Amino acid sequence: MGLLDGKRLLVTGVLTDSSIAFNVARLAQEEGAQVVLTGFGRLSLVERIAKRLPEPPPVIELDVQNTEHLDTLADRVGAHVDGLDGVVHSIGFAPQTCLGGNFLNTSWEDVSTALHVSTFSFKSLAVACLPLMKEGGAVVGLDFDATKAWPVYDWMGVAKAGLESASRYLARDLGRHGIRVNLVAAGPLRTMAAKSIPGFQEFEESWPAKAPLGWDLADTAPAAKACLALLSDWFPATTGEIVHVDGGVHAMGA
Ligand SMILES: NC(=O)c1ccc[n+]([C@@H]2O[C@H](COP(=O)([O-])OP(=O)(O)OC[C@H]3O[C@@H](n4cnc5c(N)ncnc54)[C@H](O)[C@@H]3O)[C@@H](O)[C@H]2O)c1
Repeated sequence: MGLLDGKRLLVTGVLTDSSIAFNVARLAQEEGAQVVLTGFGRLSLVERIAKRLPEPPPVIELDVQNTEHLDTLADRVGAHVDGLDGVVHSIGFAPQTCLGGNFLNTSWEDVSTALHVSTFSFKSLAVACLPLMKEGGAVVGLDFDATKAWPVYDWMGVAKAGLESASRYLARDLGRHGIRVNLVAAGPLRTMAAKSIPGFQEFEESWPAKAPLGWDLADTAPAAKACLALLSDWFPATTGEIVHVDGGVHAMGA
């Protein structure tokens, strides 16, 4: 018996095999789930990466800033599965001006892009998938602890604070549909998104030393496993929650 036997999942955010979503998709398939991926931008690249999964899944195009993509998502996913039991939001983007110590000078235009892609899209994705979730299910998003002001994370930190709040409101409004909404707050991981943060090495140097359990910046499996647990039937009464998968850093003093 796999943890996710019989579950039908939509997993967003696979870009490379270092993407957190890649490990979510891989482990979910190993645990018995049927997976559909969405890809953004160069779909041929995502399709190539998808072939490295145990069972190459279908890849559907989704730009969360594109209303037509969102409006047609349920139909396009529905061509591959007869419903969804889980949705993984593993999407984040901020223009370079939003990161790296430029907080006081970033334009609203750039901040609005970060919020649209990284925050508002959590709601857009969940609502776009709602027609396929008639039997209830779980929505899981990827967070970075937004209770503190970090070095260099800047407006992405604000976007994540918004994500944490949006997750609680989604939990409120989707509960009546039997849908649980939770976040996994991961520690820093060396993915494409992280490499685009100027000064990311500040996290790389300090995090493993601060974490009581230690922290491997190259291992996305702990965060992915937490996503699987939240997608499974083993958190039936948990929603609006943030599970920290960071080696314990969030619980430590300075
Ligand atoms: N890497 C870290 O240190 C870390 C830590 C905590 C949380 N997270 C979060 O994990 C999630 C996944 O990031 P990752 O680290 O795996 O990096 P990644 O670069 O592999 O994934 C980011 C994904 O966002 C997608 N994306 C960007 N703009 C999009 C758009 N307009 N429409 C649809 N998709 C779009 C990209 O295609 C990519 O697949 C993000 O929400 C990120 O903030 C990352």
